[in-house]
Amino acid sequence: MKITLTSTSQQTPETVIISIAQGETYDLALEAVAKEITTSLATLQNDFKAEHGELLVVYNNTGQRLILLGLGKYPGFGEILKAYRSLTYKWRNKLGSTIGLSFLHQNLPAEENATKWIEAAVNGCWLSTYQIGRFKTKNGKEHPFKAPDATLTIFIAEDQPTATLRKAAAEGLAIAETQGRILDLVNAPANKKTPQVIGEWAARSGQTYGYKVQVLDKPAIEKLGLHALLAVNRGSEDPAVFIIMEYVPDDIPVDQLKTVGMVGKGVTFDTGGVSIKPSTNMHFMKSDMGGAAAVLGTMETAAKLQLPVHLIGIVPATDNSVGSTAIKPSDVIDSYSGKTIEIIDTDAEGRLILSDGIAYLKKHFSPDVIIDLATLTGSAVRTFGYHAAALFSNNDSLAQKLLEAGHQTGERAWQLPIWEIYQDHLKSDVADIKNYSGRPISGAIDAAKFLQFFVDGHPCWAHFDIAGVAFADQEFSGQKSATAFGIRLLTTFLKTANQVI
Ligand code: BES
Ligand code: ZN
Ligand code: ZN
Repeated sequence: MKITLTSTSQQTPETVIISIAQGETYDLALEAVAKEITTSLATLQNDFKAEHGELLVVYNNTGQRLILLGLGKYPGFGEILKAYRSLTYKWRNKLGSTIGLSFLHQNLPAEENATKWIEAAVNGCWLSTYQIGRFKTKNGKEHPFKAPDATLTIFIAEDQPTATLRKAAAEGLAIAETQGRILDLVNAPANKKTPQVIGEWAARSGQTYGYKVQVLDKPAIEKLGLHALLAVNRGSEDPAVFIIMEYVPDDIPVDQLKTVGMVGKGVTFDTGGVSIKPSTNMHFMKSDMGGAAAVLGTMETAAKLQLPVHLIGIVPATDNSVGSTAIKPSDVIDSYSGKTIEIIDTDAEGRLILSDGIAYLKKHFSPDVIIDLATLTGSAVRTFGYHAAALFSNNDSLAQKLLEAGHQTGERAWQLPIWEIYQDHLKSDVADIKNYSGRPISGAIDAAKFLQFFVDGHPCWAHFDIAGVAFADQEFSGQKSATAFGIRLLTTFLKTANQVI
């Protein structure tokens, strides 16, 4: 999709979307439209209240279609994105391939910056082209925005900073393209995304966008001694992989950059293992690599946007299967860190592979910051539903930056405590730590405490439990589907990570 910015209204796309928020610019925006279609302000005020997602279609006297899109009151990035995505998805069979988005003063509240609105709108327009039915033999028609000649014309006022806004539009598109590829990965069934497939995805992305990717196979993992990853992989016929990614921007020497290390849970399917899950909804456990997806997607966008940071991505990937060789409750396993772990429940497998990922990251890269993401606990889903990730951190300043990035991008997160008292839940009689307290309480916090044991004194660590938000009910699918949660939040955080840590 080609994007052009203009401050003249000479170009005439077939359709122009005019987003309008409630509040002080509501009347101004409607007045401008009323003038263009020669109707009265009162009529428009009656027909269109600018509630979030509300639509009114009108035609001007040159026959051009204007879609008024309501954004509600004080819309944030997430609301703006959602309104555009929803409209351009629902209208995919009615829209053509040339479309205009209007961001003139009359429909842009003065205190708002056009950057956010434009990035969110473009992001939403592109995400609406995503088709979930990849494995259908007959697929629906492609979205018109995917046509080779598709163009998006963005109308801005003359005094707005064109170069900045052009960059915002380009970033909105670049991130959305990667998010689309990540949606495919998370929505793919387990038999189409073995750990090897995830490794190949990473390797191809690294080649395409210019960052280093190493995919360790099972013999290499054995040689290194990633015992916790191997333990989870024991019941599976598909060997585990361990992915190590490294990005450095082209024009900044690495010694002038902060190193941010990310670790993502890459469980390609979670049966629970011997502590097997109930079958209802077990199919959703294909999404148990949502943390890995966030890390892969963020590596790709960081490289695309040439963010000023030294970025490491670690993805331990395996499924958690049942088999005669699988680990059993009561087993004591080794780990890369040298610490021993008593297995109480084989369904608490994510924390095991993450512990190896974190220990490896610390040993080989000495990062300034460690951020892990994982679809880790049902407890996080019960606490926040599908609307927010649980954030845990041992560093208040880091936590604040991440919460702020979440707020700015509409990817909500909320912090929970990691008080020392919870560590008692994980004391083992026979090993250094156990992987589950044995009691169905404080599940998300206990999981974070388990990880913190392997963070082992590193002063700047954060953990996102994204079990509720990585895979959720959405209007674009009949069942729950992938959201690509985390990419926008982390990309935003990384833009300034170099200065703020
Ligand atoms: N992958 C699950 C967590 C999960 C639950 C993700 C629901 C998405 C939606 C994780 O591996 C798991 O099974 N956690 C257990 C841990 C328990 C056995 C300590 C849980 O939360 O029930
Ligand atoms: Zn599990
Ligand atoms: Zn899991």
